[in-house]
Amino acid sequence: MSKIKTAFFCQSCGTQYSKWMGKCTACGEWNTLVEEVIQREEKGLAGSTLGNRRASVPINITSINFDQEARINTHDQELNRVLGGGIVPGSLTLIGGEPGIGKSTLMLQVALKCKDQKVLYISGEESEQQIRMRAERLGIQNEQCYILTETNAQAIIRHLESEHPGIIIIDSIQTLQTDLIESSAGSISQIKESSSEMQKYAKLTNIPIFLIGHITKDGSLAGPKVLEHMVDTVLQFEGDRNYGYRILRSLKNRFGSTSELGIYEMNDNGLREVSNPSEILLSQRDDHISGITIAAMIEGQRPMLIETQALVSSAVYGTPQRSTTGFDARRLNMLLAVLEKRSGFRLGHKDVFLNIAGGIKVEDPAIDLAVMAAVLSSNQDINVDSKTCFAAEVGLSGEIRPINRVEQRISEADKLGFERILISKYNTKGLDFKRYSIQIVTVGKIEEMYRKLFG
Ligand code: TYD
Ligand code: MG
Repeated sequence: MSKIKTAFFCQSCGTQYSKWMGKCTACGEWNTLVEEVIQREEKGLAGSTLGNRRASVPINITSINFDQEARINTHDQELNRVLGGGIVPGSLTLIGGEPGIGKSTLMLQVALKCKDQKVLYISGEESEQQIRMRAERLGIQNEQCYILTETNAQAIIRHLESEHPGIIIIDSIQTLQTDLIESSAGSISQIKESSSEMQKYAKLTNIPIFLIGHITKDGSLAGPKVLEHMVDTVLQFEGDRNYGYRILRSLKNRFGSTSELGIYEMNDNGLREVSNPSEILLSQRDDHISGITIAAMIEGQRPMLIETQALVSSAVYGTPQRSTTGFDARRLNMLLAVLEKRSGFRLGHKDVFLNIAGGIKVEDPAIDLAVMAAVLSSNQDINVDSKTCFAAEVGLSGEIRPINRVEQRISEADKLGFERILISKYNTKGLDFKRYSIQIVTVGKIEEMYRKLFG
């Protein structure tokens, strides 16, 4: 301990202090001082032998060995896809998500499915019995899965050196604690320092590590932004806890695309991989209900059809309410303003509620037209038939705008038996209408869509 020196650094301007202060005297910012290690023991990695194992020397880039096929199969097709084809040896992956969303379940499931590797699941959150109970619930047997309940980073490294696991999972980064720093577990300096030790271990041994991390109320990963820089891959596990569907999104990936996403459904016995995303489309509905439309969307690389539901009613209180689930509230306000200003629909005194089915969060702007149609349908109380779907963005002047990969959306809708799809009239370049049995209706303005839908 005595050989380790720490100091406090302002995270905003970098000024160094020997003790903690509430305000940085150099830049005037409050609460920016964080403890950091400035000089560690000679051996590095807190006494382990790994620190000296490999001295770095410059190597010619052409003589560096690499093996593209070296990825480790997680036996979870959705996770494989999001990682870009499996785990890269020596990589550090951070999995973030709100408490209770299913991070521990997902990773334990992966640990149990990887029967060809020795997996070490390190938990600082649950006891061995609790983890065993969860494993029973998941119903997967694996002789190669080991559980360790430990939070001290140095102790963990010692275990890793004797156990030699092939994959390491740490649940969670907020419970890790290193001897190098005195602040309590979960503080920024602890998270940063402990993760950096795990990162060094992963790089030196070429063993992949998964770190589970909690997310703060505002949606960012709890802990410093620097953690996201340090790791190779950042995955986010999200969904509405009241619904079964969960989405695994990649926010950063040094070894693959960030546009891939994995879809799961939380069941009584763990997470089920959803290989056909359009199943989220809830089809058990009455044909004569107004305010429901279907959007042909693309999330990640995959097309899926999603139900949007709107309810428009006279405002009970003075200020009309606007509330959304799974859709950006500001975007809804924008669409309502466009309807009011450009097309003369009086929605200013109406309450508007909007839901995306399945509790999933949509980012694809191609859902705009479906949202608008759902709002109009509810407002006029005329239903849109269930064999019609939509795929277009709406601009500020009320124009129906083109979107990317329209063919893929049309094919998916066609395949699922839809009879009509509304797209932008500026989206028809290179489109072969005769190739599909679905009727492709092109529209340029909101009024045009209204006429074609409600006559
Ligand atoms: P958990 O993995 O503990 O969440 P996190 O680690 O992200 O905090 O999962 C929590 C929820 O998942 C919990 O409310 C119970 C539910 N669950 C199921 O519905 N089915 C299951 O098979 C399991 C294991 C959990
Ligand atoms: Mg957990």
